Amino acid sequence: MFKNQDILKIHENKTSLSISDCFKKRFSPKFFVNSNISDDDLKIIFEAVRWTPSSYNRQPWYFYVAKNGSKGFEKLSSLLMQGNLWAKNAGVLILGCYINKDDYGENAYAQYDLGQAVATLVYQAQILDYYTHQMGGFNKDKAKKLVDENHQPWVMIALGKLGDYAKAPNDILESDKKPRIRKNDVFEII
Ligand SMILES: Cc1cc2nc3c(=O)[nH]c(=O)nc-3n(C[C@H](O)[C@H](O)[C@H](O)COP(=O)(O)O)c2cc1C
Repeated sequence: MFKNQDILKIHENKTSLSISDCFKKRFSPKFFVNSNISDDDLKIIFEAVRWTPSSYNRQPWYFYVAKNGSKGFEKLSSLLMQGNLWAKNAGVLILGCYINKDDYGENAYAQYDLGQAVATLVYQAQILDYYTHQMGGFNKDKAKKLVDENHQPWVMIALGKLGDYAKAPNDILESDKKPRIRKNDVFEII
């Protein structure tokens, strides 16, 4: 029987260099268990997000957070594309928006800065032993109708505890068992 330790073994990034555990352990699972995520943990995650760097410190991000079982969760999960319906088992769905116009005018770095804020969210969550899976596959036009007019929906994030892979449906298991591939040459010293 396939166990969680097997999936963790597949995804624990093999590296001889001493990178932090949150980078070693993170992967984007499709099998979550619908368990409660405490408000305290959410507060810690978004406190980390607050300290994300941004161009001119404009902090052009905003997040709508919905716990599984709530009306908000129903609304966010109804936006998911067919291929992302596995996210309905996550403890929390988060809609990440960028703000491309503020008192200073247009912000060309808004999407970039939202991405940084999401990276902060992802790694702070991982430090607390939550897994995350980001998704571009949702209906952004419909999402736009749910949010403040200055907020541009850009990414959905499933956040939660890993499910028990012994009970995972076959298609999800096969997908999550696949080893993750990375390029090696991402920098050079010039
Ligand atoms: C902006 C963004 C959009 C993504 N959209 C989807 C998506 O719609 N569905 C999905 O299953 N995964 C999605 N992913 C997850 C990526 O496929 C995943 O991060 C990538 O394959 C690397 O795998 P890893 O996160 O496990 O290292 C998305 C990731 C990012 C950052």
